[in-house]
Amino acid sequence: MKVFKSLSNLIFLVFFLNFCLVLFTPPNEDHMIHIHSGKLLSNSSNNGSNINTNIQITTIKFGHGRKNMSSLERIEGGLAQARSLIQEAIRSNKYITTTMNQSFVPKGSIYLNPHAFQQSHIEMMKRLKVWVYKEGEQPLVHDGPINNKYAIEGQFIDEMDTSNKSPFKANHPEEAHVFFLPFSVYKVIRYVYKPRRSVLDYDAHRLQLLVEDYINIIANKYPYWNRSQGADHFFVSCHDWGPRVSYANPQLFKYFIRALCNANTSEGFRPNRDVSIPQINLPFRKLGPHNTAQHPDKRSILAFFAGGAHGKIRKKLLKQWKDKDKEVQVHEYLPKGQDYTKLMGLSKFCLCPSGHEVASPRVVEAIYAGCVPVIISHNYSLPFSDVLNWSQFSMEIAVDRIPKIKTILQNVTNAKYRVLYSNVRRVRRHFEMNRPAKPFDLIHMTLHSIWLRRLNFKLIIPP
Ligand SMILES: *[C@@H]1O[C@H](CO)[C@@H](O)[C@H](O)[C@H]1NC(C)=O
Ligand SMILES: *[C@@H]1O[C@H](CO)[C@@H](O)[C@H](O)[C@H]1NC(C)=O
Ligand SMILES: *[C@@H]1O[C@H](CO)[C@@H](O)[C@H](O)[C@H]1NC(C)=O
Ligand SMILES: *[C@@H]1O[C@H](CO)[C@@H](O)[C@H](O)[C@H]1NC(C)=O
Ligand SMILES: *[C@@H]1O[C@H](CO)[C@@H](O)[C@H](O)[C@H]1NC(C)=O
Ligand SMILES: *[C@@H]1O[C@H](CO)[C@@H](O)[C@H](O)[C@H]1NC(C)=O
Ligand SMILES: *[C@@H]1O[C@H](CO)[C@@H](O)[C@H](O)[C@H]1NC(C)=O
Ligand SMILES: *[C@@H]1O[C@H](CO)[C@@H](O)[C@H](O)[C@H]1NC(C)=O
Ligand SMILES: *[C@@H]1O[C@H](CO)[C@@H](O)[C@H](O)[C@H]1NC(C)=O
Repeated sequence: MKVFKSLSNLIFLVFFLNFCLVLFTPPNEDHMIHIHSGKLLSNSSNNGSNINTNIQITTIKFGHGRKNMSSLERIEGGLAQARSLIQEAIRSNKYITTTMNQSFVPKGSIYLNPHAFQQSHIEMMKRLKVWVYKEGEQPLVHDGPINNKYAIEGQFIDEMDTSNKSPFKANHPEEAHVFFLPFSVYKVIRYVYKPRRSVLDYDAHRLQLLVEDYINIIANKYPYWNRSQGADHFFVSCHDWGPRVSYANPQLFKYFIRALCNANTSEGFRPNRDVSIPQINLPFRKLGPHNTAQHPDKRSILAFFAGGAHGKIRKKLLKQWKDKDKEVQVHEYLPKGQDYTKLMGLSKFCLCPSGHEVASPRVVEAIYAGCVPVIISHNYSLPFSDVLNWSQFSMEIAVDRIPKIKTILQNVTNAKYRVLYSNVRRVRRHFEMNRPAKPFDLIHMTLHSIWLRRLNFKLIIPP
């Protein structure tokens, strides 16, 4: 870290040791950082000096902090209010704010804490402003795929940027809580990596240079990147290469928020800083798969999978189960005339093994089809798991238990299955794509994950 000339130029970034995330995260998650008491956020409207001394706080000094103090103070004041309201919802274990026009209130066991989530979503609706940088040109920036398996990249960019319709879009960077870098990794791969004459042309370096250049431009032109070292900046990528953006220069991306489909913790995904987003495969001109869900009584298939033998986990699954069992239907390619989504709607459990990457659009497809997703993966940080209790609406089967899939699933009692099934139906709204976005849908859940990470730290002026 650099040494700074003038103290008055410093801005401090205080991390609340993932306090907000901890509130939503089950205590046995291994990525959690231990917190001793629940007092920290209650006094966060103060300027940091009043914070309870028995709680350890990481303070990081940042330099070159050109600033507009009054707007930053206003922003931090609002965040502090939001934190204390969320905390009050947790303490009182009640919904402390309900709005007349709120058509949906999160309830029940699929949420780690429905009261906290409800309050946090209300606060987000009320306050969150996102500045979308205007620099850069289409198709690499301000554009993205809106169909097929990387569709969330383009849909998110279009919603927040190009469509100009999002109520979260800030009119001025001074009013923004977070800053969005609207480039699409998919589009970069598609347009910059052509022609591809040899494997050597396909090197992540080009992508990395482009993104670093972009950051350079905005960091030179505006004060915002430097004042937080990118901690309130984010991008959204579903492409496999999304995580690679930061590999060449990890220091530059140390605090940056990466919203990724490819949320593989052993490839550097950081559950507290980054955001895991679901992969969703959108057919042309559609915002989701068909609804093929059948009543549980009509679901004659115990478990279903169809897909290519990508990656080790799928190879293992196919080797063990391919076309061998009537109840556990595992196909590499579906027999002609069979309909993939229809079969999902006729199955109780849908196997969702990782392929080349941890995420798979099958999870969302299963949820749409009312089929309980069975996650078979290593090191996959599941989407929205700050808020959702995945074990209430999905199953997890470890890779080395693939041979036991049938006994494990047969062993699920009918009562337990009914609970999982009805929870799958409940959670569906959080995985739905709407344009424009609607409260609690997939785009709002993605924004909410980013909002939570912004609540997690405070930019302060040093005393
Ligand atoms: C999540 O659900 C499981 C049961 O499926 C339960 O054992 C666990 O306590 C729940 N976690 C939280 C934080 O509510
Ligand atoms: C919050 O601050 C006030 C004074 O600023 C103090 O009286 C109160 O005890 C503090 N609350 C907590 C929970 O630390
Ligand atoms: C901010 O901190 C200063 C000391 O650095 C203290 O005197 C002042 O009371 C604090 N302000 C608030 C609102 O707590
Ligand atoms: C400070 O913020 C206000 C809006 O809150 C804006 O009008 C003004 O231009 C900003 N000043 C600087 C120096 O950025
Ligand atoms: C309720 O409606 C008011 C006015 O239309 C709006 O400002 C507010 O954001 C809405 N609240 C929610 C939770 O949708
Ligand atoms: C941000 O920091 C970089 C590198 O330290 C510097 O070159 C740039 O001028 C700074 N930007 C602003 C707006 O001060
Ligand atoms: C990844 O998963 C493997 C196998 O489950 C485990 O041994 C390893 O610790 C995990 N790595 C990380 C970074 O979570
Ligand atoms: C996750 O990352 C590890 C380490 O790079 C890799 O070995 C593994 O194959 C990845 N998982 C998937 C499903 O791609
Ligand atoms: C079947 O369920 C019982 C209790 O619910 C459990 O003890 C047993 O380990 C399970 N068997 C398998 C193969 O999962």
